[in-house]
Amino acid sequence: MKTPAGLQELIDDGVIDEVLRALKSGKEATVYLVRSGNERRCAKVYRDMGQRSFQKRAQYQEGRKVRGSRQARAMAKSTRFGRREQEASWKNAEVDALYQLVAAGVRVPKPFGYFNDVLVMELVTDAAGDPAPRLGEVDLSPEVAREYHRFLVEQVVRMLCLGLIHGDLSEFNVLVGADGPVIIDLPQVVNAAGNNGALAMLERDVNNLRNTLGRFAPELLTTEYAREMWSLFQQGELRPDSPLTGRFARDDSATDPAGVMLVIEDAREEAIRRELGKTVTPRDD
Ligand SMILES: Nc1ncnc2c1ncn2[C@@H]1O[C@H](COP(=O)(O)OP(=O)(O)OP(=O)(O)O)[C@@H](O)[C@H]1O
Ligand SMILES: [Mg+2]
Repeated sequence: MKTPAGLQELIDDGVIDEVLRALKSGKEATVYLVRSGNERRCAKVYRDMGQRSFQKRAQYQEGRKVRGSRQARAMAKSTRFGRREQEASWKNAEVDALYQLVAAGVRVPKPFGYFNDVLVMELVTDAAGDPAPRLGEVDLSPEVAREYHRFLVEQVVRMLCLGLIHGDLSEFNVLVGADGPVIIDLPQVVNAAGNNGALAMLERDVNNLRNTLGRFAPELLTTEYAREMWSLFQQGELRPDSPLTGRFARDDSATDPAGVMLVIEDAREEAIRRELGKTVTPRDD
């Protein structure tokens, strides 16, 4: 195909050899299938700032670290420099996240670099070697749906262990590769510790996975992994291999008077039984 303007520079610099075709033009970026030597890769060309929602981004960027205070001030005011900085930080967030996540063993496309506002990364493929379908486009057996759910919850936990929340995880941003699910599309990655909306975003991410995979394995629909992992995270006890049950006792159950009375009643009966045990002489029949 005719080389798109944003990619010519990468060809001139020898980063890629050829643009094969556009894979998809999304809200925020156009993704191209490209060739680098003998390998096929993906090139994600980000759209201009003006075409994305500012408000949404402000929410996501809360808590994300910015290098100097001048940059932080500029981002706060919407000066021209500020707009540039905000845009650069937005685009780099995905690249930074990919490197960090690959290093931590999270299954995301392997990045090959960020050149001239273009992210070059591993092409995720299906068993036939074609670009992989999205999670929302495949039919699954209950067993495979449960296995994908377990795997994806584990990936979310691994991310949270690094202090990161995807922020836009859904059936559109998980590809089904030959070896299983791969999480993509991370420019809005959220810093869990510094963001007031973190739990809400984590719940939305995890519940999106639950609802998509629950179509094939309905018992997933009642699970509550987000709150369970968040509770461990807040206590500083979340680990990549933390065992999770999918059940979470919400705070209101602890203050349920009938429930509390039952626990007291049980404890009292137990104490009486122990007292009786002391006084009753065991019969040996
Ligand atoms: N590494 C990859 N391997 C294979 N296909 C990919 C890869 N990255 C992206 N794609 C394809 O390109 C599409 C868009 O990518 P991505 O979600 O990162 O961009 P986006 O602009 O946010 O798109 P959208 O608005 O649709 O979410 C994906 O849904 C997927 O089909
Ligand atoms: Mg996407």
